[in-house]
Amino acid sequence: MAREIKKNVYLLKAADWNRRLFDSLIPLPDGTSYNAYLIKGSQKTVLIDTVDPALADVLFEHLKGVDRVDYIVSLHAEQDHSGTIPQVLEKYPEAKVITSPKGKELLITHMPISDDKFITVEDGEELSLGDKTLKFIHFPWVHWPETMLAYMKEEKMLFSCDFLGSHLATTDMYVSDECQVYEAAKRYFAEIMMPFRAIIKKNFPKLDGYDISIVAPSHGPMYDNPKFIIDAYNDWLSDTPKNMVVVPYISMHGSVERMVNHLIDALENKGVKAYKFDLSVTDIGKLAITLVDAATIVVGTPTVLGEPHPVIAYAAKLANALKPKAIFVSVMASYAWGGKAIEKVAEMIPNIKAELLEPVLVKGYPKADDLVAIERLANEIFTKHSNNKLQP
Ligand code: FEO
Repeated sequence: MAREIKKNVYLLKAADWNRRLFDSLIPLPDGTSYNAYLIKGSQKTVLIDTVDPALADVLFEHLKGVDRVDYIVSLHAEQDHSGTIPQVLEKYPEAKVITSPKGKELLITHMPISDDKFITVEDGEELSLGDKTLKFIHFPWVHWPETMLAYMKEEKMLFSCDFLGSHLATTDMYVSDECQVYEAAKRYFAEIMMPFRAIIKKNFPKLDGYDISIVAPSHGPMYDNPKFIIDAYNDWLSDTPKNMVVVPYISMHGSVERMVNHLIDALENKGVKAYKFDLSVTDIGKLAITLVDAATIVVGTPTVLGEPHPVIAYAAKLANALKPKAIFVSVMASYAWGGKAIEKVAEMIPNIKAELLEPVLVKGYPKADDLVAIERLANEIFTKHSNNKLQP
């Protein structure tokens, strides 16, 4: 059932408790929700976004008894929010689709909506619903080029679509457990927003002049304490990493595991926080979360057919696409009779603009002098972190 947020403003949520993968790539350990919003103004009724077509029935159940929709606002053309627009237009043939010019282009590209159904809005344009007003804020690249936000002046509500959201299926209308939502929202930021960190950081000040009481995202619970998520985004968007090392690795016969454990111990002794991730079992979302903050990434890989392990190659490609803010990288590799695992890993991460610290290459199982080389790497990381102004 639709839930009233404010008088004549409703949350139409479709919780997808069992979804475990997004874009056939991103793990969803806590499912997700698709949030549409209905605003009944004194003159016009507007639906903000829709839901994933798989849960269209839930949306239409919410819309029972709603006789007229004048406008469907599409903040973002990705199908989990827009995919049900054609069905909504069948139910409400009088409705027009309001979107950014780029949004119109992408919606027409992805689904059968005719040109005459659209009204495009420019940055800062307003729409009067009678006693309520929506202002549209172009906010491109969160995480597609067409994205915009909508602000309702009268209730001080920001409809933020993917931006500031979290993949979390919940019965909560608002955040009730900040720790749980912090992790889910950070995972969401890491996987979806981090590649666009620079442009989001540039656009974030556009929200400075707005008095926001409620942030209403299209995934996860709403925020009635917007400062919580805005402060978190300011931290994640910061250019300054933390005194932290992330070590993603694969070990086939124990050599790399031994190297990684020795590095972690050496870093711990120096007071440097470190996380290791065995990529054969890890949730890549957990790895992505740590990449939001880490100053250094050390990749551990065996050599397979002259190259890094294929799982490492996959993770390196993914990390390269996420463009984390790390400022140092290194590689620890094992081999038996040759290969170029270290060089290949370094070639796979051109987007990570980091200084390469002296790698460690070990033949077979690590011996005493190899362990000394790993301690040297730990010392170099400690010194580099100490000489740079990092967050604690
Ligand atoms: Fe939730 Fe970018 O779609």
